[in-house]
Amino acid sequence: MEHHPTPPAPDRRNFLAKAAATVIGGITVVIPAASGLLVLLDPLRRKSADGGAVFVANLAAVPESGEPRKFPVLATRVDAWNRTPDVPVGAVYLQRVAGGAVRALNVACPHAGCFVDFKSARNNYHCPCHNSSFALDGKVLDPKSPSPRPLDTLETEVRNGTEVWVKFRNFRAGVHEKIPV
Ligand code: FES
Repeated sequence: MEHHPTPPAPDRRNFLAKAAATVIGGITVVIPAASGLLVLLDPLRRKSADGGAVFVANLAAVPESGEPRKFPVLATRVDAWNRTPDVPVGAVYLQRVAGGAVRALNVACPHAGCFVDFKSARNNYHCPCHNSSFALDGKVLDPKSPSPRPLDTLETEVRNGTEVWVKFRNFRAGVHEKIPV
C-alpha cells in the first residue's frame, strides 16, 4: 500500500515561515549596519595603524649644519562623521643630531604656551612673552626663566631615509610634569 507523508499542520507551516522571515530580515539589517560601522571606523583604524605619527618635512629641508628649523604640523582631524585632512595642529623645531637622528621640540613654551623663537646669534631658543630661554636640547638655560620645565621633546622617525615623521602632542602649560592634552 502506498504511504504519503502527513503534510505539516498549518500552525507549524506558519511558524517556519515566520522564523525564516525573521532570519532573512535580521541578515538584511545586520550586514549593512556592520558595513556602515566599518566605514565609520575606518579612518580611526588607519590613524591608529600609524601610531599617531604625522609626516612633517623632508629630511633634506632640515639643515645639515645642525641648526634647528621650524615646521608647521598638519594632521587629519577625525570625528564621528568627518575626516578633515591637513588641519594645522601646532609646530615643531626639527634639528639633526648625532647618528642621523632628528630631534623634534614642540614650539609651545611650557610656561604659558607662547611660541618660542630660535635665536641663531645666541644658538638657543627664546620665549618672547616672559623671557624664558632654552638650550638646543630644550633644557631651561636661565634659572630665572619662568618656564616650569624644558621644551617638550617629541618622538621622531626618519622613514625611507628621506621623510621626518613626528608623534605630535601638545602638553599642559604651567606645570612641571609633561602631561599630554
Ligand atoms: S609663555 Fe614663555 S615664558 Fe611665559
